[in-house]
Amino acid sequence: MATFFEKNVLITGASSGIGMEIANKLANTKCNLFLAARRVEILEKIASDNKNMPANIYPIECDVSDKESVSKAYARIKENAGYIDIAILNSGISHRTDKLDYDSSVAQEIFNVNIMGLVHFIEVLLPDYKSRRSGIIAGVSSLADKRGFSKSGFYCASKAAATLILESLRVELKNYNVKVITIKPGFVKTPMTDKNKFKMPLLIPASKAADIIVKGIEKEKSIIEFPLMTAIGSKLLRIMPDFIFDTIADKAK
Ligand SMILES: NC(=O)c1ccc[n+]([C@@H]2O[C@H](COP(=O)([O-])OP(=O)(O)OC[C@H]3O[C@@H](n4cnc5c(N)ncnc54)[C@H](OP(=O)(O)O)[C@@H]3O)[C@@H](O)[C@H]2O)c1
Repeated sequence: MATFFEKNVLITGASSGIGMEIANKLANTKCNLFLAARRVEILEKIASDNKNMPANIYPIECDVSDKESVSKAYARIKENAGYIDIAILNSGISHRTDKLDYDSSVAQEIFNVNIMGLVHFIEVLLPDYKSRRSGIIAGVSSLADKRGFSKSGFYCASKAAATLILESLRVELKNYNVKVITIKPGFVKTPMTDKNKFKMPLLIPASKAADIIVKGIEKEKSIIEFPLMTAIGSKLLRIMPDFIFDTIADKAK
């Protein structure tokens, strides 16, 4: 994993699911691994479980939805390592909402984590990335960013926003030699999806998602989307006429 060797790497949302799997995988590489999430005790356990591994692991308590918490987290990273080379901005939440319990506070919570959490970290990272004229920002969006699926409107909207924020930065930061990568998973088995009661097509284990993401970052792909068949399906959904989408979505709800 040459891309990560002796680099300062940040993973947000490392206390569970995909982020935790990426952290355990990168623990095999000599690098400084900054793991951020609210449940710092889980991050500390990851660090102690991997204490004999090549990576130096730094657990950082951080609520990405809180700008001040993100600033404090970055200040701690700077104290320890000076800067970040590779940021994997993965923190995210999902709640399904029904028309019967339509609740703006749920939308607010999802947008605060999935959109503002991404923006807060990019805000603190950018000055150092631009002045160093190097680095990678890999943001985790979703293949659910193309259409508004029933009961997941807030989540889909948050991921559509994340995709567009990353896309615009990808172009803007090219001249600064900063690579922006958009990660779009399909269904991955994690605590986030364990609560889903519907059948999730082509569900893959989080360890497989972590492998694909790490390899994609190494190849400096602009978009890392997987699994292939779900990625193709989501592209078809995007171009599908509304009346067909409505019929399919109505049956799936
Ligand atoms: N699983 C899937 O099928 C799937 C598909 C597409 C995209 N994704 C995206 O992949 C990412 C990871 O999801 P996952 O499936 O691994 O979910 P997960 O197992 O629920 O993990 C979510 C992570 O986000 C962190 N997080 C949540 N709120 C946070 C906050 N306010 N501040 C800091 N960290 C916060 C959690 O840590 P704490 O609770 O400790 O803070 C946890 O580590 C998310 O962005 C998700 O939208 C997942």
